[in-house]
Amino acid sequence: MQGTGPPAKMAERREELTPMMRQYFELCSEYEDALVLFQVGDFYEAFCEAAEVAARRLEITLTSREDSSGEYPMAGIPIDNAASYVETLLSAGYRVAIADQVQEPEEATGVVDRAVTRVVTPGTVLDDELLSAGSNTYVASLAGGESGPDAAVAFVDVSTGEFRVTSGPHGTVQDELDRFRPAEYVAGPDAEGFDVEGMHTPFEADAFGRESACERLGAYVSNPEAVVENGAELRACGALLAYAEYTQSADRGGLEYISRVTRYDTREGMRLDRTALRSLEVFENREGGDDHTLVGVLDDTACALGRRELVHWLRRPLVDAGAIERRLDAVEELTRRSLVREEVREGLREVYDIERLIARVSRGRANARDLRSLKTTLDAVPLLREALADCESDALAERRAALDEMDDVRGLIGRAIVDEPPIEVTEGGVIREGYDDGLDELRETEREGREWVADLEEAERERTGIDSLKVGYNEVHGYYIEVTNPNLDRVPDDYTRRQTLKNSERFYTPELKSREDEILGATERADSREYELFREVRDAVAAEADRIQRVAELLAELDVLATLAAVAVDRNYSRPALGAEGITIEAGRHPVVETTEPTFVPNDTDLTDERFAVVTGPNMSGKSTYMRQVALVCLLAQTGSFVPADDAALSVLDRIFTRVGASDDIAGGRSTFMREMTELTEILHSATEDSLVLLDEVGRGTSTADGRALARAVTEFVHDEVGAFTLFATHFHGLTDVAAELPRARNLHFTADRSGEAVSFVHSVVEGPASGSYGVDVARLAGVPDRVTDRARELLDGDDAAAGATPGQDDHADRTRLTNGHAAGNGDGEAATAEGGADDADIERALLEADIARMTPLEALNRLDELQRRVEERQ
Ligand SMILES: Nc1ncnc2c1ncn2[C@@H]1O[C@H](COP(=O)(O)OP(=O)(O)OP(=O)(O)O)[C@@H](O)[C@H]1O
Ligand SMILES: [Mg+2]
Repeated sequence: MQGTGPPAKMAERREELTPMMRQYFELCSEYEDALVLFQVGDFYEAFCEAAEVAARRLEITLTSREDSSGEYPMAGIPIDNAASYVETLLSAGYRVAIADQVQEPEEATGVVDRAVTRVVTPGTVLDDELLSAGSNTYVASLAGGESGPDAAVAFVDVSTGEFRVTSGPHGTVQDELDRFRPAEYVAGPDAEGFDVEGMHTPFEADAFGRESACERLGAYVSNPEAVVENGAELRACGALLAYAEYTQSADRGGLEYISRVTRYDTREGMRLDRTALRSLEVFENREGGDDHTLVGVLDDTACALGRRELVHWLRRPLVDAGAIERRLDAVEELTRRSLVREEVREGLREVYDIERLIARVSRGRANARDLRSLKTTLDAVPLLREALADCESDALAERRAALDEMDDVRGLIGRAIVDEPPIEVTEGGVIREGYDDGLDELRETEREGREWVADLEEAERERTGIDSLKVGYNEVHGYYIEVTNPNLDRVPDDYTRRQTLKNSERFYTPELKSREDEILGATERADSREYELFREVRDAVAAEADRIQRVAELLAELDVLATLAAVAVDRNYSRPALGAEGITIEAGRHPVVETTEPTFVPNDTDLTDERFAVVTGPNMSGKSTYMRQVALVCLLAQTGSFVPADDAALSVLDRIFTRVGASDDIAGGRSTFMREMTELTEILHSATEDSLVLLDEVGRGTSTADGRALARAVTEFVHDEVGAFTLFATHFHGLTDVAAELPRARNLHFTADRSGEAVSFVHSVVEGPASGSYGVDVARLAGVPDRVTDRARELLDGDDAAAGATPGQDDHADRTRLTNGHAAGNGDGEAATAEGGADDADIERALLEADIARMTPLEALNRLDELQRRVEERQ
């Protein structure tokens, strides 16, 4: 996080500055780590060094300002579209302090008062334009544990008031950070060693103190007792509230909607760390984009509330079989009863983002349209309850019963606010007639006056005999009677001149003047009365924030249940049975790949008696897809969703681990062998019998011999000691022998269809190890001379045999020495190829060095073509 600091040079000469600039520099030094945007009329300005930064970052013109203290750089953005500029500054790593004029210029005696009204930071933005409707923006706070848990983490979304806290060992807290992915975080002095993607913002250590935390939490939430037991959680919550106050320049008054803290236990959810979320592409694909993700396939939600809830459910699949079944019962009922499902979804489409709406209401930022939107949403509640009237599943029946129709709030908004109010709340037109007698009287006075004026034209024409006489109104001069120049001699005595135009004169009469005062006075008073009434209504609604948030929560959950049902029907998913011994899936599909592959081939899985499967097969044959599909089926089931399979009987998993070998993760730029081994360590330490472990090409990042040895050792360890459900995709064919020997392991493989010229993939998993000779087969198919392919086969067989017998040696190097007398110690390749005898060895070496398992068929063909040509040249 960076700011520009107070522009030093100017600040030194502070005594010479104009009052406005002095005000600017004072705010700059108060908000040292922020870039201050300073309101001057319709613009936000930055000066001096800050202006240079703003001009550069925002690509706006750097101008200059001159006053009695000299000339200095200035850059400004129009207030009306400040949001996009602020966003640019945020993504460039700045925080932005908005200094607004807090006094009407007319009221100011000297310089207009300005104050920082909020500090916009990545985790605390509130502008709708900068927030994505379907996702939460969290700021997190970390505090170290005093005794017991290592640390606590609290999250708040200031746009919705969602506020959660948990604590636990370092690793689980890290997982929470990976799941919630806060845009920003603050950390107490005792919270160390966390790796967070969001921006770290230094924040006063005092805020993490126990006492201030206790006080603050007590002031905000209705359930502080949920947290006070646990010192680390308490301090994380307190500091987070303090930070929210700081950024919103508010005290509790503006943040009343943060009224409940949800304390949760990480053990209530399946653990999924960052690596697993990424490699399973739950929220984003491996390139970091949002297409082809699990959430993308499921997100057919009807409203933004539901979309955020869906993300939340996927973030935390359940581990309690009872709770999972309850969700599944509801989903099943909604898949069966399509009419109910459609009515519910129809109703939910009327629903606005009332979580953010009620937050705006509490902050006093909501306008009359927001209140109407709230009413429209609440009006959908009785219809939804009606639609759900005879639902049998507990999850639906209980939610239906808990839905508060909020007649009081709906009634109030309906009585008070007109159907289609204007955006402005200070200019009238907001409050309905009949709501307030005082207001109605004022409006009546206004109306009578206007009628009188409307009749005046006719009356004056008669009185004066001037047919062209007109009565009109203008903003500057008020009401007037206009008479054209030729008729001026017929103007009566009681007319007073108001304005002279080219072809006419404008007049008023004493009565018109007094009527005018009456009308304008009544209008002004009515407008301000309306504003007052509007604020009363808004405050009354704000007082019900708690109840409205509860409704929002229920609507969100109903949306997710109905969506899961709709997706299950559309995509032909089936209900999984949980609590089984083992993982049995019939005709399972990968939920995301099946949406992009025109013909997805379903595959079975059986990890029951044999919990460990070694998966082999050519590149591109479907190994990785298959393994992820098994994990995703389990993850979906524990979320409460139906699954893409004909049938599934599943054990409830405590955690899914994935380790994708270096070769598969290069795009992520994160894979060093060290990292691979660190993750492997975590898996070997933490996996239990109830975990699912996916190992994809583990051992890739080191020499073949080391990798092979490690793969074997890991297999034995996981098999013998851990007992986790494991799928291990590997190119080390030697591992298939190991799997064949171990009692609770088996081999599975994918094949390529080699009929005809082209190699095509069957994507169908079969029992037993892959032959491992597909590369050579492809070569033969392509017409490589028998001599070469036979030799290659011979070498490969020897390679695997050697691997089984002596893991730990570098077979490639051995073989090269065995077959090539020249190679050892002869670094001069040019010289070697010049001799005919060396060519044999060269080709052999090239064959040996070819990493067949990692080649695409095309690469293999090219390589073989090259080798063939070399052989041909010699013949
Ligand atoms: N069951 C399937 N049905 C249809 N297409 C599939 C199936 N499984 C995988 N595919 C397609 O094949 C491609 C390759 O699959 P995948 O990445 O799983 O292969 P792999 O065996 O892991 O390859 P590599 O050895 O290169 O890692 C996928 O991108 C997908 O498009
Ligand atoms: Mg793969």
